[in-house]
Amino acid sequence: MIDPTSEYKMLEDLDLSGKRVMVRVDFNVPLQDGEITDDNRIKSALPTINYLVDHDAKVILTSHLGRPGGEIKEELRLDPVGERLDELIDADVKKLDDVIGPHVKQEIDKAHPGSVILLENTRFHPGEKKNSEDFVNSLSKLADVFVNDAFGMVHRKHASNYGVATVLPAVAGKLILKEVEGLTPAVANPGHPFVAIIGGKKASSKIGALWDMMERVDKFLIGGALAFTFLHAQGHIVGDSVIEDSMVDDVRDFLENVDDDRHTEVILPQDAKISREFSETGDVKTADARKIPPEWMGIDIGPVTIRQFSDVVEEAKTLVWAGPLGAFELEPFQAGTKEVGEAVAEADGYRIIGGGETGAAIKEFGFADEMDHVSTGGGACLGFLRGKELPALEVLKAG
Ligand code: 3PG
Repeated sequence: MIDPTSEYKMLEDLDLSGKRVMVRVDFNVPLQDGEITDDNRIKSALPTINYLVDHDAKVILTSHLGRPGGEIKEELRLDPVGERLDELIDADVKKLDDVIGPHVKQEIDKAHPGSVILLENTRFHPGEKKNSEDFVNSLSKLADVFVNDAFGMVHRKHASNYGVATVLPAVAGKLILKEVEGLTPAVANPGHPFVAIIGGKKASSKIGALWDMMERVDKFLIGGALAFTFLHAQGHIVGDSVIEDSMVDDVRDFLENVDDDRHTEVILPQDAKISREFSETGDVKTADARKIPPEWMGIDIGPVTIRQFSDVVEEAKTLVWAGPLGAFELEPFQAGTKEVGEAVAEADGYRIIGGGETGAAIKEFGFADEMDHVSTGGGACLGFLRGKELPALEVLKAG
């Protein structure tokens, strides 16, 4: 196979010494009471940042955090991120309270080569999401070259990850190249059987990917809360399980198409762990997932389904997993994600884990190092696996 990263312009193509290098990273990390609860996205950007520091560039980092909607939200300032980054690298890190403006320019002019400046949350500016020309130009004036290393954002066409790349000389950072390399085996000539484990809460965030992957995938294993929307769409009784009403017709349409296609199989849970309340303390029973009593809801897949999913996983030559199979944050409902996760960790096929909650789950259960690729992207990872062109990647391609 041709090296998929050879299409991209990269750091090694640039003369960096003394240059002002703007790097878009995805420091959209989970926060609880102002504390970072998972710094994986910061650590994943370090190879690019350290490379630039070692090559005496003036490093200017940009990132969003959360969805402040174009206005300043104190709780979404990047200060905790700056502090964590300062602990993780040898270079000086200076966090500024603005994204653009004369003060930012002065600080960059003053900075010495090999130092790092972190600008404020780009989404405090209304021009960011709109990719407005003014905001793109104001950002671009702050730097000589641009590096995009925000893989989690490649499905978005915003000013700081896309617009700037159309104005400045732009290359892909090391994380983006690692993601492209790790995810491509599921898009270009994947080994068969190709198994996709799809879980999580919402059918709406996954149904497009299911359609697009249908041609390549042999078996979809459906778990998580969204499985109950699928079971309901087939006419089964799912008690008080969470259903996404607006998606029922779309899901039914998808299931009918899969039936006609006959090449792809969709395997839904046979049994479920059910409770009357979404907590660790309520009564828990194992029930037929197609006959859940009134007032009870399905919160995890049951033991028969775990065994069936694990058997399918064992045979897979390519495996993609996006979305936990149950509410793994509640101890009584961990087994689906944990035990199928163990089967994935032990399987011989090429295994890709989507970012966000699935990445957090396999990290918590200690399987992350066993996988072939754990993505830092949620929506971006699924976007890549759909096989569609992603704007912020296309703009970085050579030639
Ligand atoms: C993510 O967390 O998936 C990325 O940082 C993108 O965030 P967004 O969905 O708010 O654009």
